[in-house]
Amino acid sequence: MKSVLATAHSNIALVKYWGKRVDADPSLNLPAVGSLSLTLDRLWTETKIEPAAADRFTFDRREEPGKPAAKVFAALDRLWASHHDGARPPCHVESRNHFPTAAGLASSASGFAALTVAAAAAFELPHDARTLSAFARMGSGSAARSIFGGFVRLHRGTRRDGSDCVAEPLLMPGPTWPLALVVIQTTRGPKGVGSTEGMERSRLTAPYYGPWVETSPQDLADAEAALERRDLAALGEVVEHSCFKMHACMLASRPPILYWKPATLAVMEQVWALREAGVPGYITIDAGPHVKVLCAAEHAPTIRDACASLPGVEAVTVCGPGPAASVRVLEGGNA
Ligand code: DP6
Repeated sequence: MKSVLATAHSNIALVKYWGKRVDADPSLNLPAVGSLSLTLDRLWTETKIEPAAADRFTFDRREEPGKPAAKVFAALDRLWASHHDGARPPCHVESRNHFPTAAGLASSASGFAALTVAAAAAFELPHDARTLSAFARMGSGSAARSIFGGFVRLHRGTRRDGSDCVAEPLLMPGPTWPLALVVIQTTRGPKGVGSTEGMERSRLTAPYYGPWVETSPQDLADAEAALERRDLAALGEVVEHSCFKMHACMLASRPPILYWKPATLAVMEQVWALREAGVPGYITIDAGPHVKVLCAAEHAPTIRDACASLPGVEAVTVCGPGPAASVRVLEGGNA
């Protein structure tokens, strides 16, 4: 094996994934709906894999035994077994998040994408990027999308073996269509329900879950059509619809799942007031209290400043479109 260093950027879903397919092996982690995301430049994970005497996982310089390590090494086992016979060589996996503030933003997307790309290079696997996205998906659904840069579509697929549930890059918004995503971190309360658990609760108990799954293909088609026309207003309308439909589904779960804090609502109202006043931004919110606003790059500073001063807002980061995951072999990296 080789010693390698991989980088993968986080992504935010604009058309959301919430819920898993139940007609297939749960270990494949197949989403019930497709999704569409934007990879971000300013939030990324760096993961180094080196040969070692025994498996070891360090995250942000701390030894991480237990469940997180078990997930990491299960992912390495899957990748190794896809191309090699026999036992996987023991590895030291060292992962670090480069996020502007210490906590509060999900990192499983960039984390599993970086791990997948690193392991494939360390084990010298012949897999292409789409296949790597399928492996990343088995770690975390959103990670499949972080293999690629810019706007990315994760296909739901229909095959029971999950081979058609892969991500695909759609478009990298460049200087001809400058876009930004303003990430507004609000009050950190006690940790809410994790997304894996929350989406399962919605599937089992929310009366809106069926309609959520059924209407998702139309949202994806509308978002892709808006992207093709570079029509931010049309894209933004779908982005907000998908977000609030997902949160309606969360709220209608038993017991209810509510991720919003007072500051989340204050930011929403601020963003909508700005839009009324001619500064268009479009809201999306994941399984947490933070608000992300899609807008033209020229409007990002106004939205940032207007939200930064609201009570309960902890940090605001203006992100642009980010690149695909990448990896390099380290000097003297053959083992
Ligand atoms: C609300 O990808 O974290 O962010 O596949 O169970 O690891 P698992 O879930 P995860 O869920 C993401 C949920 C979301 C929407 C999205 O990113 O599409």
